[in-house]
Amino acid sequence: MPQAELVVVANRLPVDRVEGATGDDVWRRSPGGLVTALEPLMRREDGAWVGWPGQAGLDIEPFDFEGTHLVPVPLSEEEVQLYYEGFSNDTIWPLYHDVIAEPRYRRVWWDAYVKVNRRFAEATASVTAEGGTVWVQDYQLQLVPRMLRDLRPDLTIGYFHHIPFPAYGLFSQLPWRRQVLEGLLGADVVGFQRVADAGNFARAIRRQLRYVTKASGITVPERDGETRNVLAKAFPISIDTASYVELAQRADVRARAAEIRESLGNPSKILLGVDRLDYTKGIRHRLKAFGELLEDGRLSVEDVTLVQVASPSRERVEAYVQLRDEIELMVSRIGGDRDTMDHTAIRYLHQGYPREEMVALFLAADVMLVTALRDGMNLVAKEYVATRTDNRGVLILSEFAGAADELGTALRINPHDIDALKDTIVRAVEMPPAEQGRRMRAMRRKVIENDVHAWSSSFLDALANARAHKDDEPDG
Ligand code: G6P
Repeated sequence: MPQAELVVVANRLPVDRVEGATGDDVWRRSPGGLVTALEPLMRREDGAWVGWPGQAGLDIEPFDFEGTHLVPVPLSEEEVQLYYEGFSNDTIWPLYHDVIAEPRYRRVWWDAYVKVNRRFAEATASVTAEGGTVWVQDYQLQLVPRMLRDLRPDLTIGYFHHIPFPAYGLFSQLPWRRQVLEGLLGADVVGFQRVADAGNFARAIRRQLRYVTKASGITVPERDGETRNVLAKAFPISIDTASYVELAQRADVRARAAEIRESLGNPSKILLGVDRLDYTKGIRHRLKAFGELLEDGRLSVEDVTLVQVASPSRERVEAYVQLRDEIELMVSRIGGDRDTMDHTAIRYLHQGYPREEMVALFLAADVMLVTALRDGMNLVAKEYVATRTDNRGVLILSEFAGAADELGTALRINPHDIDALKDTIVRAVEMPPAEQGRRMRAMRRKVIENDVHAWSSSFLDALANARAHKDDEPDG
């Protein structure tokens, strides 16, 4: 395995194992935005990506895929349960999303989290070139920066947190809060989605570790009596805007959008929700508001259809099993009460779709509903905006999603306020084209300016800066 100058570390590798044409398993690039964003960079820098290959028990040698060296970190079935489903997605995920679901604190989950984070750190240490740069991604790997620094003090280390960082009053519930903060502070640059997340982090550092923080700088005492400066600030992530624009302009995708409208019975308005099936997304709040609007007679199934794509996610975690039951009960209740022979109130799809189909759906939708109760960024909001090249369509956007900081001309809502949400849906359905255009144009400017390439460059520039300052220090 060659040593790489730039190494990305994430829970998942940027590929999925799928059945190929001949029936054998083949690797296919994952559809995510991060993967798309980093692909040209990894190619250029001859980079490596360290991550779990996505299947329990799969232990394979490093391999090259489309210009990136992939370094698989194996997880046993038990580790998937304890580290991934347990600590990552049943402790950290609910805690960091403002305890919308109750976080569970289990010592055996924590032990597995430490062990697996160490495995990631060791794999990374062994593939990174002398003086190289490592970029760690997300909440599954919060201990990696510190572990890696201990193994390889020569490296420049960045960490980006894709999900919210909670207020100290919540964060302090975590029995291992100190270890997590120290883990993150192993990085030279710690990036967050919102200014508020970086603020919560700095406050946790002050309250818990008593370190000094000043603007975005944190002074971290080291064991040798020296101090190190860590930069902690917001770098709001984005999408590969150009590729969405390109898809939205393709004749076959536009034809598919028309076909979707047709197959829904050409309703005068289509509302759309697209989410991983997750309790943070506010899907129930959205269904409640829509169901009540039909019941009140303010909307009718003859005119308006809601398409809800809820892609399967973390299906063995109890809170997700329960949420699916609740949503499916609501969908079938509303349908049972409101559907007619010719019209369905809600077209519910518990499936994931390729990007082309998603863009066709965005083009078919008059109103996009993003009602997250808490969300790091919410890229779906940005994807919808990017595809609306005719500057039509209305985005309803929760103020609790990171995207609300940038998309100021969306119709902002508090998803807990069902009456206001209902009024906003009616307002969106009735919005005159000129107002749609005014709002959409301003939002499109934002996602064109700040795309995912601008995001990764600004983070990597901050890292390069951190390295330059380190080199300036007299004793290195
Ligand atoms: C969020 C997280 C990612 C995660 C993704 C899908 O966007 O920030 O780290 O990869 O959800 O979840 P999964 O558990 O399937 O990886």
